[in-house]
Amino acid sequence: MKILSVTSEIFPLIKTGGLADVTGSLPKALTGYNCYTRTLVPGYPTLFAKLAGAQRVHFFPDLFGAPASLLEARYEQLDLLILDAPALYNRPGGPYLDETGRDHVDNWKRFAVLSYVASAIAGGLIRTWSPDVVHTHDWQTALTSVYMKYSTNARNVPSVLTIHNLAFQGQFPTSVVSQIGLPPEVVSLDCLEYYGDVSYLKGGIRTATAITTVSPTYAREVISPELGMGMAGALGSRPRALTGIVNGIDTEIWNPATDAHLPATYDHKSIRLRSRNRARLLETFRLDSGPGPIFAAVTRLTWQKGGDMLAEVAEEISQLGGRLIVLGKGEEHIETALLAAAGRHPDRIGVRIGYDEATAHLIHGGADVVIQPSRFEPCGLTQLYALRYGAVPVVSRTGGLSETIIDANDAAISARVATGFQFHPATAENLRLSILRAFAAYHDPKKWARLQNQGMKANFSWERSAEQYAALYAQLIPDRRMMPI
Ligand code: ADP
Ligand code: GLC
Repeated sequence: MKILSVTSEIFPLIKTGGLADVTGSLPKALTGYNCYTRTLVPGYPTLFAKLAGAQRVHFFPDLFGAPASLLEARYEQLDLLILDAPALYNRPGGPYLDETGRDHVDNWKRFAVLSYVASAIAGGLIRTWSPDVVHTHDWQTALTSVYMKYSTNARNVPSVLTIHNLAFQGQFPTSVVSQIGLPPEVVSLDCLEYYGDVSYLKGGIRTATAITTVSPTYAREVISPELGMGMAGALGSRPRALTGIVNGIDTEIWNPATDAHLPATYDHKSIRLRSRNRARLLETFRLDSGPGPIFAAVTRLTWQKGGDMLAEVAEEISQLGGRLIVLGKGEEHIETALLAAAGRHPDRIGVRIGYDEATAHLIHGGADVVIQPSRFEPCGLTQLYALRYGAVPVVSRTGGLSETIIDANDAAISARVATGFQFHPATAENLRLSILRAFAAYHDPKKWARLQNQGMKANFSWERSAEQYAALYAQLIPDRRMMPI
């Protein structure tokens, strides 16, 4: 089967979060299931800085007002199609935000055009290659199936929309519609119309052949009023199209036995070697070494992630003899509160505001506990990295966190299946109580070793999930025949 994946970010070329991890690792896993993926991405400057030898496969003299090219290139094991549209992507800042941290003012156009080009590829733009299935991700590429239906005559090609995070919906005024090449009738309740505006995500929900979320639990949560975020109705109206497939992790990139970012590599049999990473971690954050556990978080510092709760428990962790390390970036008031806590206890609390892949690996390879107090979490990847690296997760029981971590209650401990600590609902007080449980378990070395061991042995590789995606694609292809590559 030939798959066109369309995404606004892909690891290792451009990443702001888990979306990039997924779009960067799923294609590799799918090759084992007769699925050959090409991924369409925007030609951001950071991408061109890492790529060499891209070849032009199509030239658009006037793509929504400016010239653009479609290029192809390989990067490591990824087969890429790159939309080189300088008027849209060649600028400072990140994929979504400008240098001052505000949304690029023309995001409505930047991602509409990307989606239009994806739909054109589905409609036969590249003569030598057209996909059997189109796979889109989040609001940025959700318009693809709208274009396939209304504009580029690719209705017969099935499409899958994966929702990684329902909080981001691509909501813009209806006036954008006439500027992105869609007919006025798309501004209707059964397509883009959303509380007087348009929502690109809603357009995808209404028109994609199948919709997935990144965990089965989240697939149930998104049709509930609490976590449906205004889309519960649209999603609930397509019950047979909606399923959940839990994310896997790239076990080559996240492998403690080979990780080049760690001073000491190890596996579950040589876990004692972690102590060297632990020491390096304390040194890196200039914290004093002592007998207590190191709690850590690698996260966007946002309301979703419960970044504010980290600041609320920081003092207590320090008073109980633990250390807290936070690597993250996000809302200013959360950053300020965390930095203030670190200022009060510089030898016990280490906070680094920023994004740093190498330090993220060191944290997973050296911390004792990884905290993730999310208010909602479609899947979550850091808890999976923590498991694989022998750091014990403390997580709220929501979305993917609830199904990937097994709480260390008495039954789970005696059945030898426990892998972490869960709390619910996500409040600072419940987080505090879980942290106390983690302290108690840490001071029981046998119990702790068992938790680490069970976590390290849990299998969250892509295998099972890639198989589910492959089965979904096959089911959508009209004659259900497995297409040859
Ligand atoms: P989300 O995509 O909602 O942010 P996930 O847990 O799915 O959450 O994925 C987050 C990804 O981003 C992980 O790979 C994590 O290691 C990484 N990450 C988040 N914040 C940072 C940071 N400050 N530095 C380095 N990596 C980070
Ligand atoms: C989103 C979600 C996160 C998920 C990631 C990858 O950013 O917030 O839970 O793991 O996408 O699917």
